[in-house]
Amino acid sequence: MIVESSTLPKKGTLENQKKVFQTLEELFRESFGNSHEETRWFFAPGRVNLIGEHIDYCGGSVLPAALQMGTFAVARRKESAEIVLESTSMENRVSFCADDPVYLESDGWGNYPKGIFAEYHQRDVPGQGLEILYHGNIPGGGLSSSASIEVCTAFIIETLNQFRLDSDTLQNRKEIARLCQHSENHFNGMNCGVMDQAAVALGKKGHAILMDCSDLAIEYVPFELGDYALLIGNTCKVRKLTNSKYNERRAEVEKALALVQKHRPVNHLCELKMGELESTLGLLPDPILKRRTRHIITENNRVHEAVDALRVGQLNLFGQLLIESHQSLKDDFEVTGQELDTLVEASLAQKGVLGARMTGGGFGGCMIALVHHQQIEAFKHNVSAHYQSKIGYFPEFYQTIAGSGANEISKS
Ligand code: GLA
Repeated sequence: MIVESSTLPKKGTLENQKKVFQTLEELFRESFGNSHEETRWFFAPGRVNLIGEHIDYCGGSVLPAALQMGTFAVARRKESAEIVLESTSMENRVSFCADDPVYLESDGWGNYPKGIFAEYHQRDVPGQGLEILYHGNIPGGGLSSSASIEVCTAFIIETLNQFRLDSDTLQNRKEIARLCQHSENHFNGMNCGVMDQAAVALGKKGHAILMDCSDLAIEYVPFELGDYALLIGNTCKVRKLTNSKYNERRAEVEKALALVQKHRPVNHLCELKMGELESTLGLLPDPILKRRTRHIITENNRVHEAVDALRVGQLNLFGQLLIESHQSLKDDFEVTGQELDTLVEASLAQKGVLGARMTGGGFGGCMIALVHHQQIEAFKHNVSAHYQSKIGYFPEFYQTIAGSGANEISKS
C-alpha cells in the first residue's frame, strides 16, 4: 500500500511514536480486516556509525549508535501458515507460505523480511502464519533501513512464535544480529559485516556502542556532546551498484589478509596494531591492497582513540579523528565519492564544526558532523547552498541523539 506522507510522518523522532502506531493500527485493520487474534506493536531503529568504517568485516572495533528513526510494525498471528507483508511506502503486498520462504526478485523490499523468515525456518521454528504492516521513517541510504526491517522482523517472529534463539537477553540480541547478518549475506547477496544489525538490536539510549566485531563483545559509552549536536547530512544521491562495490572492497581485504597470513598468524587484519603497520604493508606488493590495509589498521586505532577522547570529554580530539577517518576512507579505501566529499568539505569550512565524516557503506548515503548548537541553522543554510551549487540538488539534515534498540512497544 502507498500511504500519503501526511497520514504518517515520514521523518521525525519517536516523540510521536504512539500516534504513529495508532494510525498504523487503523491502516492494518483496513488492509487485513478484523480477527480474534490480537495485534502487537514493534519498533527497530536505524543506526548511525560514529567511527570505525569498513572494519566490522575485518574483526575491528566500531562505534555505532541506534537512531530514534526506524521501522514501526503492527503484527498479528494468522490461522493458516501464510505470511503476508505490507509496507506503507511500497505498492506490492508480499505473501508466501511460512514453510517455503524463497527469494523472488519480484518481491523487491519484501526479500529483507522474507530472508529472516527463511533463517527461522532453517532453525525449525514452526510455520506460524503472520500478517505484518511496516512503516519506516529512516531516510534512504546509509542509516541501515535494511538492518532495521530485518531486526524488527526477527523480534516479531520470536515474540509471536514464543521462541528465543538464546535465553539471556543481551546474548539473544547478539544472536538475532548474527542471524540477520547471515540473512543479508546469503538471502540478499550483500556481504555486509555485523555492525548494522548489532547496533539496531543492541542500541541504548544516550549511548554509543563500542563493539568488537570479532566476538561481538560490547561496551556502552555515554554519548554526551555538551554544546555540540550530532547532525546527519544526507547526500540524497540515488545509489546504484552499491552492493557490488561493497563486495569488491570486502574481497580486496580478504585477499590482503590471505597474503599477510603467509607471514603472520592472525585471524583478522584488525589484530595488527599501529606498531606493525609498516612491516605489514611491506608484505603486500599491490599498492591498492597496501592502501586498503592501511585504512583498516589505522581506522581500528582511531576508534579506540575516539572512545578515549569521548570518555574524557575531549570533543576537539574526537572531531579531529572523524576528519582523519574521512580522509582515510577517501584516499585509502576509496568509498566516498564527490557527493560525500563535497558535503564533508563544506561542513568543515563552517564555524563551530569540530569534525565531519561519511557514515555507513559510502558511495553516497550520509555523513555526520559535530556542530555547535548556536551554529546549526547557519551550518545547514551554508552547506546546503554550497552542495546545491556543486552537485545540482539539495542535501537533507537531521539532528539526532542515540536511541534504544529494537523492542516490542507496549500499547498502554
Ligand atoms: C554497511 C555494512 C556494514 C559496514 C558498513 C561500513 O553499512 O552493512 O556491515 O561494513 O557498511 O562500515
